[in-house]
Amino acid sequence: MKRLMRNRATPIIRELLAGDGLSVAKLVQPVFVEQGLIGSKELLGLPGNFRMGLEAALKQIESDLAQSVRNFMLFPLPAAKGVSPDSGAQIITDIKERFGSDIHLWVDTCLCSTSPLGHCCLFHEQNQLSKNGVVAPNIDLEATLEALSSYALAFAQAGADGIAPSDMMDGRVAAIRANLDQNAFNHIPIMSYSTKFASQFYGPFRDAADSSPAFGDRKQYQIDVRNRDDAINASIRCADEGADLLMLKPGMTSIDLLAPIRKKTHLPVGVYQVSGEYAALDLLAREGFADFDKALLETWQVYRRAGAQFIITYGARKALVLGVPAL
Ligand code: PBG
Repeated sequence: MKRLMRNRATPIIRELLAGDGLSVAKLVQPVFVEQGLIGSKELLGLPGNFRMGLEAALKQIESDLAQSVRNFMLFPLPAAKGVSPDSGAQIITDIKERFGSDIHLWVDTCLCSTSPLGHCCLFHEQNQLSKNGVVAPNIDLEATLEALSSYALAFAQAGADGIAPSDMMDGRVAAIRANLDQNAFNHIPIMSYSTKFASQFYGPFRDAADSSPAFGDRKQYQIDVRNRDDAINASIRCADEGADLLMLKPGMTSIDLLAPIRKKTHLPVGVYQVSGEYAALDLLAREGFADFDKALLETWQVYRRAGAQFIITYGARKALVLGVPAL
């Protein structure tokens, strides 16, 4: 059965996905929360964004709420590496206990920030590295899907309002959907990072989330920017597997794909204005080449013009001050 109702379930998701124009209700604010961290550290290249301990995160979300931000993309960071969803689940519980249905907490669901190898997947144990240090094609897809779907379930049980798989593995949306449905979480929507390119524009994020690959790169699973059909197929794949929302990333280098993917899937398609895009605006402004606030607003307007249903952006919490209406 197709369940279209997940995208209509709460006032927050209805505002995220309905209507024209630009409003704060269509923006999603990323938050990086590290288990056990005391205080917070501003992230290099992402002014106004922090890697936060729990107390700092609760304060930040409180002040974001006052700025009309309702949608958050949580990046849960463990105190120590180890493939387990437990630290993430605890962070989710703590945040949701405090804010309940005042916020919609999407949770980035991936293995790269908990895995000691810093990859979005698990590998077969043999041949992890070839002699010259290049990754051999030995992703253990079955184990990866099992881990990802168990993360998703643990996050849903902890109170996540939406699961956002960002790993790019084939089959993960179907595996997550099945595990959620079998465990009475069929109301939880999946926002899939459905077309995600291997990109230079994730630099500040990898620093923030401590998720750089220990070897190789992500080209075995992230899309080559030269391949338009592959990029469109990746989103169709996620739609076929049961994603409720699709997302393109980096937003800037996916702008031409928004319309065709919407047309092919009839699902809401959003963009992630990734860390490198945001940092680039900051660097331009620092050199006096642009006005940061105006440039930021311009990029959001372009995303909406191109048909992005929602925008994940490090500047969501500034939007109201920039004159973007709450609704
Ligand atoms: C983790 C993940 C990444 C981003 C979001 N989730 C990094 C990556 O895939 O390398 C990038 C976000 C950003 O750059 O702002 N899989």
